[in-house]
Amino acid sequence: MKISVFGCGYLGAVHAACLTHLGHEVVGVDVVQEHVDALARGRAPFYEPGLPEILEEALASGRLTFTTDASAAADARVHFICVGTPQTPGDNAADLQYVNSAIDTLLPMLKPGDVIAGKSTVPVGTAALLADRVAAVQPTAEVVWNPEFLREGLAVQDTLHPDRIVYGMRTSDTAAAAVAVLDEVYAAPLADGTPRIVGDLATAEMVKVAANAFLATKISFINAMSELCDVAGADVTLLADAIGLDKRIGRQFLNAGVGFGGGCLPKDIRAFMSRAAELGVAQELRFLQEVDAVNMRRRVRMVELAREACGGSLTGRRVAVLGAAFKPLSDDIRDSPALSISAQMQLQGALVKVTDPHAIDNARKKWPDLDYVATAEEAVVGAEVVLLLTEWEDYVTLDPAALAGLVEAPYIIDGRNCLDPERWRAAGWRYRAIGRS
Ligand code: UDX
Repeated sequence: MKISVFGCGYLGAVHAACLTHLGHEVVGVDVVQEHVDALARGRAPFYEPGLPEILEEALASGRLTFTTDASAAADARVHFICVGTPQTPGDNAADLQYVNSAIDTLLPMLKPGDVIAGKSTVPVGTAALLADRVAAVQPTAEVVWNPEFLREGLAVQDTLHPDRIVYGMRTSDTAAAAVAVLDEVYAAPLADGTPRIVGDLATAEMVKVAANAFLATKISFINAMSELCDVAGADVTLLADAIGLDKRIGRQFLNAGVGFGGGCLPKDIRAFMSRAAELGVAQELRFLQEVDAVNMRRRVRMVELAREACGGSLTGRRVAVLGAAFKPLSDDIRDSPALSISAQMQLQGALVKVTDPHAIDNARKKWPDLDYVATAEEAVVGAEVVLLLTEWEDYVTLDPAALAGLVEAPYIIDGRNCLDPERWRAAGWRYRAIGRS
């Protein structure tokens, strides 16, 4: 099937390459010439394991192209909207300008029976407004909301083998045809038994934000427990293991530490609260304010621990930070706890050296004043305290005995509860973590 993908960022680039892998003919449209040129050469403009390989395979098939010329989408049957919906500066609401401009671009080229499949995360009610605009121009074109649940770092796998596929649409004469078209797009994962849920537009929009709100709540729940563990003398890791064995709770997303960041969870819970307030039900989502606050407190707490490790003041003290990305297997530094903690320590006078296997270039652009080095060994030389803030495998498997010889003081603060305390203590380190007194 001929498919267009509007927006070739994390979501769209992966989606375009994976749809080509599934046998379709895809054109990726983006307004940033530099991204389009890089993708057309088989180079992803961001680090995502598995993407270069699938991109290369897709380009070699001759069925995948990238362009800034939107007219290339005119003969596509399905148009996926994969543009970003960032937080509006100075406001909690989502900024919908890119979604609106993608629809503006598409409207004049829509043909009877076309399907516009929205994958971007939007406030509930957005898709209905878009559907009205589309119906006014091309009544037999169908707007379907088809949210995407991919995780950065696992994006290719999540796209090819999703947990579920959701379609939301209006009840109309053309709805069944639109379902059939999308079923053809997703024929391979559906044949693998992926559950498919069909509902209305509002529910489909809400599935995405409700899922992210739940995940954020789970993380902040365990982080709140970690604060209690600290004062009660309990161990949050054991606590998570024990409660996670209850199948109703589950162990995933119960890793306490410096909390969540990235381009989705923080902005999605804020946009969700903002939309709830517009709908007159602000009170119902007020708990998400606390989820956000618990999450932000993790960063403050980590700076406090570093200050304590330095004897009460960070001024002039040498601090090593392992990790800059908001999570491993990604070079994304949006709302990264690691970088906001690093910047705060620097503001308090610390001499901070940050390292990361993939995110240093992005980090330097956003926080140019921090000192970046290529390796963990370089970062820790002469350090009076080491903070592990992103749990890259490279850092989890570091040899504590070898590192002990490089630092000024062997003091490690494990911001992700991912190290073995006994191993580090046996190598002469003082080990601290949140919620593991
Ligand atoms: C998230 C959702 O998981 C995904 O379904 C949605 O499509 C986009 O948003 P992503 O932002 O890639 O994906 O990251 P995710 O793996 O969810 O992690 C988010 C943050 O939570 C990271 O900063 C991670 O370090 C943190 N986290 C995760 C924890 O602090 N503890 C955990 O137990 C799990």
